[in-house]
Amino acid sequence: MKDLMTAPFMIEMIRTVTNMYQHGWDERNGGNVSLMLEDAEVAEYLDPGRVIRTLETGFTAPELEGKTFLVTGTGKYFKNVQYAPDFNLGIVRLREAGRQADLLWGFSDGGRFTSEFPAHMMSHVARLKVDPDNRVVMHCHPANLLAMTYVHELDERAFTRTLWQMCTECIVVFPEGVNVLPWMLCGTNEIGEATAEKMLTARLVVWAQHGIYGAGKDLDETFGLIETAEKGAEIYMKIAHLPRLNTITDTQMHLLEERFGIKAREGYLD
Ligand code: 13P
Ligand code: ZN
Repeated sequence: MKDLMTAPFMIEMIRTVTNMYQHGWDERNGGNVSLMLEDAEVAEYLDPGRVIRTLETGFTAPELEGKTFLVTGTGKYFKNVQYAPDFNLGIVRLREAGRQADLLWGFSDGGRFTSEFPAHMMSHVARLKVDPDNRVVMHCHPANLLAMTYVHELDERAFTRTLWQMCTECIVVFPEGVNVLPWMLCGTNEIGEATAEKMLTARLVVWAQHGIYGAGKDLDETFGLIETAEKGAEIYMKIAHLPRLNTITDTQMHLLEERFGIKAREGYLD
């Protein structure tokens, strides 16, 4: 059996959450990440028959029966993951239609997966319906996106168009736009269901006055998606109080569609 700490998925997860912390997106225990693993890659590093303990999830997700995830722990600081991965991360395999999760590795202090596990697992189910290659769900608290939800209307078309106008690359990176949920109580199945519903039409879902969810095929892509939206929000927060003399027009966005072979969300451009 190979050393789990040399697994590419483990190295990439540790680097990614460290980078998220360094970007200021994950104060204290803020944020959580889940990465779906392939059975074959897990078997190189762990005995799949050795279950440490079984955790109740509090929801069902039959589509994920038997699926294995590397996931951040609840209450754990991203800042510390690189120093004590087995304490701050866990590898779990879902069973009983997703009602239970067998812990195969990690959460060595007796801890459990993030309190946002429902939103993560339900979002995986939703994204896999749209994109069978989706593997990652990522949540964090980037300051500018969060700030924007206090001063910008939360209408999804308006919110998306503002971000697209803030940097040329935004529409190229997330042509489907960003979906937005109003403030809801976090850590519940309800916010999980609402997030998953929004994930059917976009890979980015803003939680007003809380943060953002991103989904993608790997950690790099998902990080980049959030990074780009956050850059758009940063520009917005720098200029929102100033007279706007110039912008990126819809005609110019149509040129970007042609140049990059992307299609903006139906009805979002004039
Ligand atoms: P956890 O520590 O349970 O992952 O919660 C952090 C968070 O961001 C809640 O939305
Ligand atoms: Zn949060």
